[in-house]
Amino acid sequence: MNFYSVRGGTPLSGEIEIAGAKNAALPILAASIMTDETVTVENVPDVSDIRAIISAIESIGTKVVKTSPHTYEINGSHIVDGPVDDDAVRKIRGSYYLIGALLGKYKHAEVSLPKGCNIGLRPIDQHVKGFRALGAEVRIEHGMIVADAAELTGSHIYLDVVSVGATINIMMAASRTKGLTIIENAAKEPHVVDLANFLNSMGAQIKGAGTDVIRIRGVQSLHGTDYSIIPDQIEAGTYMFAAAATRGDVTIHSIIPKHLESLTAKLREIGCQIEESDDAVRVVATRRLSNTHVKTLPYPGFPTDMQPQISVVLGLSSGTSIVTESIFESRFKYVDELIRMGAQIKVEGNTAIIDGVEKYSGTSIVAPDLRAGAALVIAALAADGVSQIHDIQYIERGYEDFPGKLRTLGADIVVLEEADGSTDDLRAQIHRVS
Ligand code: EPZ
Repeated sequence: MNFYSVRGGTPLSGEIEIAGAKNAALPILAASIMTDETVTVENVPDVSDIRAIISAIESIGTKVVKTSPHTYEINGSHIVDGPVDDDAVRKIRGSYYLIGALLGKYKHAEVSLPKGCNIGLRPIDQHVKGFRALGAEVRIEHGMIVADAAELTGSHIYLDVVSVGATINIMMAASRTKGLTIIENAAKEPHVVDLANFLNSMGAQIKGAGTDVIRIRGVQSLHGTDYSIIPDQIEAGTYMFAAAATRGDVTIHSIIPKHLESLTAKLREIGCQIEESDDAVRVVATRRLSNTHVKTLPYPGFPTDMQPQISVVLGLSSGTSIVTESIFESRFKYVDELIRMGAQIKVEGNTAIIDGVEKYSGTSIVAPDLRAGAALVIAALAADGVSQIHDIQYIERGYEDFPGKLRTLGADIVVLEEADGSTDDLRAQIHRVS
């Protein structure tokens, strides 16, 4: 087991490039199997969740060739009809996108139920409701979700909750039905739009992605395409808040500023200087930041995937801040670790009341999930002294070369190897991994 060792206290400074969006790449790679022609996908981030979805599509007979560090050629013409039950499938949430893709293409899907980050209950009732509305019979048996249809027909579907996953899954299946499907109360996230653009480049007819009503006219078949994935707004946001927490000066390239509006607005509100250009954003923090209130909401609201990172920054800001998590119920698990670093935070239900402290102090902490793990690294970068961050496999699910990119900004972070693989045993060999 590896862990990060971070010596905090250096303001981050410099320039970095953002990778492609993990949460766009997962459905796009799954949807690549919906044609028998070859699909080329560029700007795919090199993170473990992506390696897992690639392994899952390979396990059913898809031919995948990695032609460059971020480019894959995918050919789904030899898919074997049968259960998708690769080890990798069970590890990641995004594997449920194979249900929509396989159901749309073959009218039959049998996929292991996903796990994903442990951030609260993750029901899939809205996905199932959508598949059933399209005419599929859906059942859950032996840990698998099985969907079958003699024929899929367009339908009018109102989502009871705004769900990224359900919107994406229904969009995939509906693109290969007879007739028109209308999804109301659809998610508007940039990765929903990216998947729609990708499917349209394969010949699908999807309109309205990015609004809360999406219209999908089913087509007979989809064809090959070349497609480049949008930049990862959560990776970008994480570096923006790392700059803020360390009172640094960081320019983040290869981004779409529009996707970051809720983040730039909050950073400005608490006292950061933000400069935007066409595809970059510079975040400068020269003094102690001030407090604010934040509530996570579906896009274009403040993203739940940035809630731990902003809380770490507000933990160092003057005054009292209130952070309300309205999407996932267990997303404050990092707070106990942050309190061990000196934060003053009280969690009541889905709200964190944060009294800003002057400094965090380094200690040994454990990442409870992907985004919270990244947030704890930010806390360590801002803290006095040395911290060790354990269970970094969560962070590696979604951040490409996190320590390497942070080092280009001047951070003192190294990857070390645990002595006995246990997160409780903090005796580490001084063996530098990267
Ligand atoms: C996606 O998860 C992302 N995952 C999450 O990112 C992200 O936090 C989340 O969207 C919200 O933006 C991927 O894209 C792989 P939802 P997803 O369906 O699709 C409820 C990360 O760190 N709901 O939009 O699973 C659900 O409980 C990850 O990269 C139902 O009730 O999220 C939640 O309260 C973590 N029934 C809300 O909707 C359903 O059928 C939003 O969930 C589906 C969801």
